[in-house]
Amino acid sequence: MKKTNDGKSEKAGAETGLNIIHAQDIYKQFGDEAVLRGIDLNVSSGEIVGILGPSGAGKTTLIKCLIGTLGLNRGSVFIHGVAMPSLCMMDRIGYMAQQDALYDDLTGFQNLVFYGRLKGMRKRAAKDQSHELMALVELSGDESKKVAHYSGGMKRRLSLAAALIGDPDVIVLDEPTVGIDPVLRELFWQEFGRLKAKGRAIMITTHVMDEAEKCDRLILLRDGTILENGSPERLKQKTPKGTLEAVFLESAKRQITEGRTV
Ligand SMILES: Nc1ncnc2c1ncn2[C@@H]1O[C@H](COP(=O)(O)OP(=O)(O)OP(=O)(O)O)[C@@H](O)[C@H]1O
Ligand SMILES: [Mg+2]
Repeated sequence: MKKTNDGKSEKAGAETGLNIIHAQDIYKQFGDEAVLRGIDLNVSSGEIVGILGPSGAGKTTLIKCLIGTLGLNRGSVFIHGVAMPSLCMMDRIGYMAQQDALYDDLTGFQNLVFYGRLKGMRKRAAKDQSHELMALVELSGDESKKVAHYSGGMKRRLSLAAALIGDPDVIVLDEPTVGIDPVLRELFWQEFGRLKAKGRAIMITTHVMDEAEKCDRLILLRDGTILENGSPERLKQKTPKGTLEAVFLESAKRQITEGRTV
C-alpha cells in the first residue's frame, strides 16, 4: 500500500508529533461496574501506542470511548481538536474491532469497497484501493469468495484491510494480530511502521510482548486505571529484570497492595 487513490494520504501529510487524540478523565461505568476510572491519554501523529492489560482491564472499552462508539459517564475526548463523538471525524478513523464486523454475504472485496464508500471514497478509488489492500493482507486470491467462507484468520486480515481503507490518519486496532501467523504478523508490523512514518496516529491493543516492544509508547491498563505509561525502554529500566513482563507484574502487585482501585 504505497499510495492511495483518493489523495487522502497527501491531506494528512507526514507531520509527526502533533497531538491527535486527547482524552481527559474518562470515566465509564456499565451498570454498577466502573470499567474506566479517570483515564488521561494523548496520542500523537507518527506514534504507535500499545495498550496492554489483562483480560477485562478495559482496553476495548477505552478504545470504543476514544472513537466515540461508546458514551462516557464523565470526561472528554478530542480527536484533531474536535469533541467526540463526531460523525465528521468517522472517515478519518480506521477502526478494527476485536470482533470482526464484516458482512458474511458479501465477498471480501465487496466488503472493502463497501467500507471505502462509507468513508466517502469514490467507487473507482474504493475499488482500486481495495485491490491494493487485499494484496497487502495476502487475500488477493480470495477476493471473490464470500466472507461466510473465510477462515478466522482470513477475517482478521480482511478486518485490518477494512480499517485501513480510505487512508485514515487515526488508526485504532483492537488485537489486530490474533489468529495471524508469525510471517504475516511481521508483515503487518512492517505496514504499521510505514503508516507511522506517514504520520498516522496508531493505537494497538495486544497481549503479545514482542509486539509491545515495537510500540513507541506503552500504556498498561488494569482495573480501569493506567498503571504505566512510557516507552518500552523506559519501562524496562524500572525493574532489575529489565523485561516488560516484570514491570507489569510488579505494577499489578503494587496496585493490589496499595488498593489503588478499591
Ligand atoms: N457492553 C457492556 N456491558 C456491560 N459490561 C461490559 C460491556 N462491555 C464490557 N463490559 C465489561 O467491562 C469490563 C472490561 O471489558 P473490556 O472488553 O473493555 O476488557 P478488555 O481489556 O478489552 O479485555 P480482553 O483482553 O478480554 O479483550 C469487563 O468486566 C466487561 O465485562
Ligand atoms: Mg478487548
